[in-house]
Amino acid sequence: MLLFDVTTFSDQVPYNALLKTAVAASKEAGALLLDYVRSGFRIERKNPINLVTDADHAAEQCIIDRIRAHFPTHRFLAEERGRVEPSLSPYLWIIDPLDGTTNFAHGYPAYCVSIGLEYTGRCILGAVFDPSRNELFTAIESRGAQLNGQPIHVSDTMDLDSSLLVTGFSYDIRESPRNNLDHFAKFALKSQGMRRTGSAALDLCYVATGRFDGFWEVQLNPWDMTAGSVIVREAGGRLTNFCGDDLSIYGQELVASNGHIHQAMLQILNDGTSQTTAL
Ligand code: IPD
Ligand code: CA
Ligand code: CA
Repeated sequence: MLLFDVTTFSDQVPYNALLKTAVAASKEAGALLLDYVRSGFRIERKNPINLVTDADHAAEQCIIDRIRAHFPTHRFLAEERGRVEPSLSPYLWIIDPLDGTTNFAHGYPAYCVSIGLEYTGRCILGAVFDPSRNELFTAIESRGAQLNGQPIHVSDTMDLDSSLLVTGFSYDIRESPRNNLDHFAKFALKSQGMRRTGSAALDLCYVATGRFDGFWEVQLNPWDMTAGSVIVREAGGRLTNFCGDDLSIYGQELVASNGHIHQAMLQILNDGTSQTTAL
């Protein structure tokens, strides 16, 4: 079933205006997050380890208000409120107002605002803002990726042995058989180093800048990966699921890399010895 009205399609996608709005919204929300750091925030639990704060909600409202003011008919998929569909617009903004909530709640400065955009089901734009470092990662389809206005590119590391990898774990790690600990253990023995930063959107941006050579995760949501995946793609990286098929932001599994080490990563993820690691 089509979720958008084909009669509203236009080849004239206003890329610059869309990116300008995404950047303004991400910076405004980032400033709001820093205000909450200074003034304090309330924490609630979605489950024993999945937190949400009033900063998450306020940042999400701020982003949606800002985008709506410019594009009142556009649709939204935002982490804290789900889908908002005022029309059959071909544009769908996919928003994580605070990626890295656990870090934020603990005062560990590794979190960001992530705003991606789908047009007719195609991911066309991403803006990720890290307010603690004042780093803004952006990309528009076919126009490359940038960090604070400067072009970025994935690394040229050729093998896993020399690679710095990153991953993450989902909030059902205590219950799910797909807890990623098996893959983590294998990559830890095959790579130069492993990191777990706690922000999937930043992990993707760090692959795009070459700070990491590869990233995988087992159970991501569209808001974790839309913006970052456009940024990796436009920085020359490769994105697939664990089978090596093109990434779907609705497919949960993600492998992102500089391209050179991708096949080696897929091999490890599919080496047949994958088992749940008992806690
Ligand atoms: C989480 C972070 C984390 C990843 C989790 C995500 P949140 O998002 O991106 O790095 O491992 O899978 O859910 O809850 O901080 O927005
Ligand atoms: Ca997230
Ligand atoms: Ca979030």
